[in-house]
Amino acid sequence: MLIRDSGMPDESYWESLFDVPLILSRLDMTRFGQVAELGCGYGTFSIPIARAISGTLYTFDIDAAMLERTRERAGGLPIVCEERDVMELGFGVQVDAVLLFNILHCEQPTRLLRHAASALRKAGEVLVIHWRYGDTPRGPHLDIRPHPEEIVAWAADAGLKNVAGVIDLPPWHYGLRFCLQRASNDH
Ligand SMILES: C[S@@+](CC[C@H](N)C(=O)[O-])C[C@H]1O[C@@H](n2cnc3c(N)ncnc32)[C@H](O)[C@@H]1O
Repeated sequence: MLIRDSGMPDESYWESLFDVPLILSRLDMTRFGQVAELGCGYGTFSIPIARAISGTLYTFDIDAAMLERTRERAGGLPIVCEERDVMELGFGVQVDAVLLFNILHCEQPTRLLRHAASALRKAGEVLVIHWRYGDTPRGPHLDIRPHPEEIVAWAADAGLKNVAGVIDLPPWHYGLRFCLQRASNDH
């Protein structure tokens, strides 16, 4: 099921809206081995994250053109790009971190967060970034755009607890980190 309002503008415009090195640094991405990402899009985050981590990045998208663009940019990096409806099927891998970037305005956020939680290894983290609530040059309509507190509440229902408050990711985003409430997925 295609997540609502998940279409992409032009690649160079999209990539002008993020300070990617700052985001990777504030989320401390180099800690991780295997990582799974919902929605590679143009590979905006997939490519630099695959460079930063010590293992493989598994990235899933429902749109073949987005997967093709990310594969084209991946070169010899350890990236597996797969066409997969994550909302329907979950991630199908066990990893150290799951990335939900610019996606939690979906129709069923708690279901998606449950899929993310069940893909985590014991000490893993779900990492979220989203558009600030308010005036931004892009982002989902405010009627469907979540506040960070809403995401924290949905995550709690999915068995995840927030570990570092709300992380400022200027110019337009914030980040949230979550670990398992009960680290019982011992893999
Ligand atoms: C707003 S874009 C964000 C892409 C990337 N995470 C980023 O921040 O640059 C959302 C992406 O999710 C993909 N998508 C939408 N619904 C999906 C689903 N059910 N399963 C997998 N990918 C999906 C879209 O095709 C699109 O590439």
